Amino acid sequence: MWGGRFADGPSAIMREINASIPFDKALWRQDIAGSKAHVAMLAQQGIVTAEDARAISDGLDRVAAEYEADGVPEDWDLEDIHMTTESRLAELIGPVAGRLHTARSRNDQVATDFRLWVRDAIDQMDAGLLGLQQALVTRAGENAASIMPGFTHLQTAQPVTLGHHLMAYYEMARRDRNRLADARARLNQCPLGSAALAGTGFPIDRQATSDALGFDRPTANSLDAVSDRDFALDFLMAAAQCSLHLSRLAEEMIIWVSQPYGFVRMPDALSTGSSIMPQKKNPDAAELVRGHSGRIVGCATALMVTMKGLPLAYSKDMQDDKPPVFEAAGLLALSIAAMTGMVAECTFNTDRMRQAAELGYATATDLADWLVREADIPFREAHHITGAAVKLAESKGVALDALSLEELKAIDARIDQRVFAALSVDASVASRVSYGGTAPEQVKARIAEARAALGME
Ligand code: ARG
Repeated sequence: MWGGRFADGPSAIMREINASIPFDKALWRQDIAGSKAHVAMLAQQGIVTAEDARAISDGLDRVAAEYEADGVPEDWDLEDIHMTTESRLAELIGPVAGRLHTARSRNDQVATDFRLWVRDAIDQMDAGLLGLQQALVTRAGENAASIMPGFTHLQTAQPVTLGHHLMAYYEMARRDRNRLADARARLNQCPLGSAALAGTGFPIDRQATSDALGFDRPTANSLDAVSDRDFALDFLMAAAQCSLHLSRLAEEMIIWVSQPYGFVRMPDALSTGSSIMPQKKNPDAAELVRGHSGRIVGCATALMVTMKGLPLAYSKDMQDDKPPVFEAAGLLALSIAAMTGMVAECTFNTDRMRQAAELGYATATDLADWLVREADIPFREAHHITGAAVKLAESKGVALDALSLEELKAIDARIDQRVFAALSVDASVASRVSYGGTAPEQVKARIAEARAALGME
């Protein structure tokens, strides 16, 4: 393609290090769409004849049909998807193919293709997260009043409901989808027509190609347009943050399926066995989601470091933008699908969860709150009295509400019979009626809002 200036061909090492076709062939659909929009605009502007434009456009359709049927051929001499397609087009339609690259460079071409690809990836990720949210909301609805221990420091803290816990992940997914929507809005400007770096003297119509490719408007600065990869970084950062959420959910599943917890049984379809221990049912899928988040964060880091310190405009370093984006998108799509399946199909052992909530003195705060409310004791003092009650219960190996009234009165005479109504896990959960709290009525209200927002009504 640029042989005119060169006396010698590239060395084997040059060919290998230069070739991006092994990975950027994934852009072939976007590349064909961009070229068709470009050539249609060239004809409309009288830069190529209508006849040539038709030959080129039909030829591009033939190339696309070949790719669809047989895959994209990988010839390192043709470097990348752009040259691969143009070269095949020339084989099919002859020298007129050479008119396609008028008023265009691979620099604006790849920036356009890649934006189109990332835009699709954003839309797919958003659809995946919608499915995850629907699964979470469905399971939360079934368990709006199911009691489980809430933890801080992974120590039993206060009883909560399983529905409340699941809805916490709904909120995370909601922020993830917001970030994607932000990223998409910023991404949706068309670089095509920025040419190599400075724009072009041909009378092109950038609005026309922008419209044809579904962008909101053409980019405003040609130097920025060909050297900007913020859109890829926005995607990777949103993907990384989403993967952190999935990893936390995966980690909780891993803990919850372990025998000492026994809160959850994983669906067989998302578990593996052991080749030596017949009793084993391992949460490998959740562990891989936890592991994949590390790789996704690595992808975001990789592209940030690639872009750091690059002078304007295009440098070949930027060819390395694609592998981390492709890798992160693939890993994340799988991770979302795996966690959606787990949430939708797992069996919650709600009896076991309730027992665990009853075991860990999870209602100690409720005793302290009762002393404040009913006996007008300052909270710090109530905290101290409650600590003494927990200590006694612990030494006897019983729950707080299994202490007798006499025992409680011996700790503080202001305690009376009514306290027992406050000490059950049900009473504790039912009392947390503050907005966004774990009381079933609150959880149900949030679930109803979520269902409406997700179109589940
Ligand atoms: N394969 C290249 C990339 O992905 C296309 C742009 C090449 N531009 C250039 N001036 N060499 O970045």
